[in-house]
Order: sequence, then C-alpha cells, then structure tokens
Amino acid sequence: MVFSLLITAILAIVAAKTLKEYLKIRHSNIPSANMGWPLIGETLSFVKAHPAFTLGDYLQHHIAKYGTVFWANIFGKWLIHSVDPELNRFVVNNEMKMFKQGWPRSLSRLIGNNALTISLGDAHKRRRAEVLNYLSGSRLESTFLRDMEQIASAHMESWRNRDMVIATDETRKYAFYMIAKKALSMTPGSPETEKLMEALNDIYMGIGLIYVNFPGTRFRKALQSRAYVQEVIRQKLEQRRLKDQEDDDFLNYLIKDGTYSTEEMGDLVQNFIFGGNEVIGRTLAAAIYYLGTCPQACDQLREERLQVIKSKQQSGDSSLTLSDYRGMEFTQCVVNETLRLGTVSRFLHKVATANIQYKGYVIPRGCTVIANISAMHLDPTEFKDPETFNPWRWLTPNGVKKSRSFMPFSGGARHCIGAELAKLELMVFIHQLVMKYEWEFAQNDPPMATPRLEFPNCLPIKIRAISPKL
Ligand code: HEM
Repeated sequence: MVFSLLITAILAIVAAKTLKEYLKIRHSNIPSANMGWPLIGETLSFVKAHPAFTLGDYLQHHIAKYGTVFWANIFGKWLIHSVDPELNRFVVNNEMKMFKQGWPRSLSRLIGNNALTISLGDAHKRRRAEVLNYLSGSRLESTFLRDMEQIASAHMESWRNRDMVIATDETRKYAFYMIAKKALSMTPGSPETEKLMEALNDIYMGIGLIYVNFPGTRFRKALQSRAYVQEVIRQKLEQRRLKDQEDDDFLNYLIKDGTYSTEEMGDLVQNFIFGGNEVIGRTLAAAIYYLGTCPQACDQLREERLQVIKSKQQSGDSSLTLSDYRGMEFTQCVVNETLRLGTVSRFLHKVATANIQYKGYVIPRGCTVIANISAMHLDPTEFKDPETFNPWRWLTPNGVKKSRSFMPFSGGARHCIGAELAKLELMVFIHQLVMKYEWEFAQNDPPMATPRLEFPNCLPIKIRAISPKL
C-alpha cells in the first residue's frame, strides 16, 4: 500500500514537471528537439568530441531540423540553444537587465565571490572600471608591450637547440609567464611561477565539474589549488606591506587604491591571471595549428612586419609601438581568423531574469540560454567556406572587416576586459614565431571541441630556425 502510494506520488511529480516543461516550451514559440535519454537528455551527443572548425553532428543535425534557436534537454534540464547572431547579441547586450550569468554555483568556490566574472551590480561596475583603467592603452604601450616582446623572444630563443616542441605546453607557458609578471611580478620560469601555473590549470579543469568534494576527485584538487593560489597572493601582499620598493603590477595597483580588502584583492588578482592564461594559451596553439596549414599567410605576416620595420628604420627607430601593431592589417586578419576558428570561450550561459518577448519568441523567466559563439563563427552565410582558414576574408578596401556574427570576446556589460591585451599578446607571439621559425606538424593533431578547445596530443611540431630579410 505504502509502496504504491509512493510510486503514484513519484509519477504525479514527474507528470506535473513534464506538463510544466511542455507548457513552457509550447508557449515560447521556439521549436523543441527530442527529449533524449532519461535524466541526461541529449547531453552525450552535445558534448561528443568533433573537430573544432566544424559544427559537429549534433549541431549540424539540430540546425537543419529546428533552425538556429531551439529547446534542448541538456545537463538534465531544458534550455534554449541559440546559434542566432541577433539573439546572441540581444542576450549579451541585456546582461544585468534581462539576463544574468548562468554559471554553476560551484564556480564561485573556485574563483571567489569577488571575482569580476561573478560580481553583480555596483560592485561589478566599480571593479570592472578599475581593471579596465589598469589595462589602459598607455599602460599596454609603456610596459605590457615591452614585457610581451621580451618574454616571447626569450621563450622562443630557448627552443634554439631543439628540433621539436610541444606547442600547447609552450603557448601555455608564454601566456602564463606574461600574465603572472603583470599581475604579481613573478619571474618567468621560476619554480614558484611553474607551481602557480599548475595550480591555475587544476582550477581551470575543475570548472564545469559537478561539486563532488571527496578525496581523489578533480573538484577537490581544484579546491585545494584555489586555496594554494590565494595563499600565494596573500603572502605577496604581506611582503609588499613590509618593503618600500613598489612593483609595477596589478596587485600593487589594487593596494594603492586602498579600498579593497585582502579577500577582494585575492579574488581580483586570481581572476585577472585566470582570464589571461588558459584562453590565450589555447588560442595561440590554434594559431600555430592554422598557420601551419597556410604557409602563404606566414610569408605575408613576415613581409608585413619587415615592411613596417624598414619604414621605421628610415626614420631612425626600429622598435614597434602599439599603433604599429594595430596598423598591421594582415596581422589583425590572422588574429581574427584564429579567434573565429579557434574560439576558446565557445558558449555563454545566461539565465533570463524576466519573461522576455523577442521577435515572436517568449524566453521564460529562469530559463538558461546557451549563446553558442563558436557555431556563430561557422555560419556559411557570413563566412564563405567557414571551415577553411582564410585570413584574407577579413581584408576589405576599407580596412579589416567588421562582422556582427563575430564575438569571441562576448559583448555588453561583460565584454572581455582583456580583449585589447589579448589581441596584442597574440600579435606579438605570432610575429616572433614566424620571424624565428618555420614548422610542420609532427603528427596530425587538429583542435577538437570536447566541448573545450583541446589538442588531444598537445600539438607536437618540428621546428627549423630562420632569419627572414626583405
Ligand atoms: C583570446 C583571449 C580571450 C578570450 C577569447 C576571452 C573571452 C572572454 C569572454 C567571451 C568573456 C565574457 C564571458 C561572459 O559573457 O560571461 C570574457 C570575460 C572576461 N575576460 Fe576574457 N578573454 C580573453 C582574454 C582575457 C585576458 C587577457 C584577460 C585578463 C587580463 C581576460 C579577463 C577577463 C575577465 C576578468 C572577464 C570578466 C568580465 C566581466 O564579467 O565583466 N580575458 N573573456
């Protein structure tokens, strides 16, 4: 008797939930994909690995059948999956008004409640303005550019006696050495820097995992690494309070402001390093891959740099400035094309904070929208032969093409604060690479969407030193 009552109650709850979902989906005027498997829905086909420069079977099938906006049952809940550039722009432009971040709650345990990525309202505005001010054009010019060139050059000089390098290891190190120097004045390659890099990597790998805090789990390891990173930052703060000498880094900038608590500074510095680390490293590995398939682009990059240096030498100065880099159109095209085919922040997860009417759709309050950025970048109506690496597609008689379907750095209130820094860092590394080396793949190892952008074999490349002249 008790057993049949229990079964009836469970069935009633399941039926009520299904009816609620059904009504929500029906009234939204958005087509719905199949229910998929019990509990997991279509998660397995959604996360199935595929080459990162393709849509993959799941999306190809769903876009053909349901269009660019559809309901999908993923990660145990129904959510709206959008590949539509206009809807995705609407979502990011209305962050904090109609949408908010849809990160799992476990994220705040890994990056801290004061991190910019998680902050809301006035706290977000204030912290964001602070970081943006730190990353101003004049600072990029005066200290970042010089450090980037030095670190990239020294890093690549260290390859001189090698005929093969593991590209993902090298790009990750360059990105980390750079950001750790600018955040905490850490010395590239020192044991302390290497240890911090591994800890940050553990945290990155913990993001998106289910909160399972047991010994031996990846999430527990990520939590321990978070504690280690915070301890390193706290010790640096203590050292700064004891010594007179001022370091020109992000931590000192926050100390000077004088309004931040130790905890806030810990979270902001970690978020700063975090943003400028894995994403840049992976994008650069993608650049090495795509440029490795396109020798003409490498030649044109070399020529563009040499032309600028030659014209500067005539006026007696050969060092490149921020505006020199920004003026090199083909280099910018290569960066755009790399960000298009090597999109590392592939999806944005946003939650509707109200019932939203948009172009005939109803997006119900509380529902998650996955704004799929990487798929937008493969739209054949905007990018002809989208799977092909073709930097020249960005060149127009009026300069580098702008596209509303291209948003590797998101937009609106959460637009990446490191976008300008990132583009400069990519340009500097790519230039140093093509000027110092030619390379070929040691094995076929294309970037895969897993759904993270990854190289399964870490992209080993055979290198040959060169010294090109005009
Ligand atoms: C290729 C390099 C990069 C890519 C593709 C990238 C991408 C993104 C994207 C898509 C977002 C928005 C996420 C959202 O809407 O929720 C974002 C935000 C952010 N990025 Fe980046 N990023 C890059 C480099 C950097 C660098 C170099 C830094 C730091 C120095 C950085 C720091 C941040 C921070 C702190 C946020 C949060 C902004 C906020 O919530 O107001 N990123 N990034």
